[in-house]
Amino acid sequence: MPSTVFVLDFGAQYGQLIARRIRELGVYCEIVPYDTPWSTLSLRDPAALVLSGGPESTLVDGAPAMDAEIVESGVPILGICYGMQLLARDVGAELVKLDHAEYGPATLVVSDRETPLFDGVPDESRVWMSHGDSVVKLPAGYRALGSTARCHVAAMGNVKKRIYCVQFHPEVVHTECGRVVLENFLRGVAGLGREWKMESFLDRSVEEIRERVGSDRVLCALSGGVDSAVAATLVARAIGDQLTCVFVDHGLLREREADEVVAAFRELLHLNVVAVDARERFLKKLAGVEDPERKRVIIGHEFIDVFESEAAKIPGVKYLVQGTLYPDVIESKTPSSKAGDKIKSHHNVGGLPDHMDFSLIEPLRSLFKDEVRVLGRALGLPSAIVNRQPFPGPGLAVRIIGDVTAERLEIVRAADAIVRQEIDGATLDPHPWQYFAVLTPVKSVGVMGDGRTYAHLVAVRAITSEDGMTADWARLPHELLGRISARIVNEVRGVNRVAYDVTTKPPATVEWE
Ligand code: XMP
Repeated sequence: MPSTVFVLDFGAQYGQLIARRIRELGVYCEIVPYDTPWSTLSLRDPAALVLSGGPESTLVDGAPAMDAEIVESGVPILGICYGMQLLARDVGAELVKLDHAEYGPATLVVSDRETPLFDGVPDESRVWMSHGDSVVKLPAGYRALGSTARCHVAAMGNVKKRIYCVQFHPEVVHTECGRVVLENFLRGVAGLGREWKMESFLDRSVEEIRERVGSDRVLCALSGGVDSAVAATLVARAIGDQLTCVFVDHGLLREREADEVVAAFRELLHLNVVAVDARERFLKKLAGVEDPERKRVIIGHEFIDVFESEAAKIPGVKYLVQGTLYPDVIESKTPSSKAGDKIKSHHNVGGLPDHMDFSLIEPLRSLFKDEVRVLGRALGLPSAIVNRQPFPGPGLAVRIIGDVTAERLEIVRAADAIVRQEIDGATLDPHPWQYFAVLTPVKSVGVMGDGRTYAHLVAVRAITSEDGMTADWARLPHELLGRISARIVNEVRGVNRVAYDVTTKPPATVEWE
């Protein structure tokens, strides 16, 4: 295992971002709940600790606290925002509640260059703040390292103990010196090099899977998405044809997608793929269903049924591969997960029930989405698979508003293919993150040739986003939108009008259902 940095998560909005940035700097990093005791952490021999921000104030009773032994552990620590205040409070600083909380940009003025934390950081730079409390009197042994107009102690450090704190958020892109500060902490303070490389992760995973599986047989559900593709390829690298992949064609994929996926896996990657044509079966179950949640639930159940009956035909299977990612793992463990209503049930193809009597192999459970893509490239997966747009498990069914029929699938599939061809062929900066067509139940009057038409409205959605959690509508050039619209109304029968969705998420979601 490489040296590991642990982020103690106090419910930070940007907790995952801290871990991603640290990994980008070549150091392996994991997130743990804030109240993890030192006796547990020490078993993993942390190379350094980061205390995240959080929504609370350390000045109220019952504020999230950490085990007192952590500060005394001798391990290098970086406290960020709430993490700074908590640490400061625990070692005897004086804090006050600000009359006006400080949110957004501020100018950091570096006041001390004796420590490595601000090496290479200009005397003044823009940082991102988000706090209501502030340190006003330093604890013994600590020196102030920088300030902003409203925050006297915007950074402090104890050189001997290798403990540093910043009130601003080094992990967000709006903090100009953020990356440098994190790198200074990792290298200059904690003495860590670039050890976390995807190739070494790959080699280690292959070894581990081989050792665990022995001569047993393994099953994997392929969805056509990046995660299951990378997980399957990694496992196949370890155990070859002891792995069988099952691809369920539910008929809700994009144009030619099912054939391309199966061909890529069989011919290019030489995986052992069982393809099941379940298109009729899904259409029958979806007939007359208009409610989005019911559609999702039906597709989820149906997928499991088909997969289970295929699995039963393959004897002696002991393990099941799942493409679980790190955000799913931490979301169930850290305080940030407690908030939030269920907006949509994300029935992922491949998310299988507990009663299936298999042990799970989850080779991606420590990776973020962008790292899965890097791993995919390291495994030699074609870019058509690695760079595939995110696509919902229930597929085109949630891009047809209302009843799903074979005819409506044809329409949305043809319109979607045009949207993708046109946007893929354009040079756009930034390139939209996701783009597709939605078939609405609205019909409107039009004129074609000399005749009146009464046909469907197709909506086009193109968004920019980092992770799908928030999104902005893409400012596509008008000429491009014009071409997409003209092609859809000319080439797709049953459509006489096209609208462009100019809504952000929130308040809208990315998909229409
Ligand atoms: P929403 O519509 O929730 O979508 O704003 C956010 C991102 O998630 C994708 N999405 C899904 N992905 N199973 C998935 O694996 C699903 O059921 C599902 N529903 C939405 C969506 O395409 C977008 O990228």
